[in-house]
Amino acid sequence: MRITPLLTEDVVDVLERQHSQIRGAFAKAALPGPGRRKAFENLVRLLAVHEAAEEAHVHPKAHRALAMGSAVTARRRREEKEAKELLTALWRTGPDCKGYLRKLTRLAAAVQRHAAREEREEFAALRQAVSARRLRLLAAEVRLTQWYAPTRPHRWVNNELTNKLAGPLFGPLDRGLDLARHLRAQLSGTG
Ligand SMILES: [Fe+2]
Ligand SMILES: [Fe+2]
Repeated sequence: MRITPLLTEDVVDVLERQHSQIRGAFAKAALPGPGRRKAFENLVRLLAVHEAAEEAHVHPKAHRALAMGSAVTARRRREEKEAKELLTALWRTGPDCKGYLRKLTRLAAAVQRHAAREEREEFAALRQAVSARRLRLLAAEVRLTQWYAPTRPHRWVNNELTNKLAGPLFGPLDRGLDLARHLRAQLSGTG
């Protein structure tokens, strides 16, 4: 692991890089073929841990630090709720369901709109309002949360409190289920 970015990156660097990884993961999850399920599961995982950290740390910070913080973060939460509902529905039916590509495209559009608004209205303002040192510390908090955060969407885990209370419980549980699923796929020769 390279140490320098861990010390110099701020929370906006980390989250914007993840936005770009998520864009790439959507493109891979749309490809046909035997790798589609793995690509879909990777996309779900990226989205789940990304939003968990934003809900637990970034929106609360923006709410407190920005002049229009309450209005900006209320809009972001509404968008996240909409995307989470689409993601939960898609997670339940999986990549083999009828209409998968149509549902994936709808989810991708909702996530892209949301990410663009975060970057434009929230992240840029955070860089103006919050010290560089605090933004680097926030990056560390985001990384730590993502280390144990849930890897699947949980509808009611959607704000600072529920993420901080339920994240440490659901995260290990989800990761155990991910491992079991991976081992099953290996044993059946589809992994
Ligand atoms: Fe978000
Ligand atoms: Fe985001």
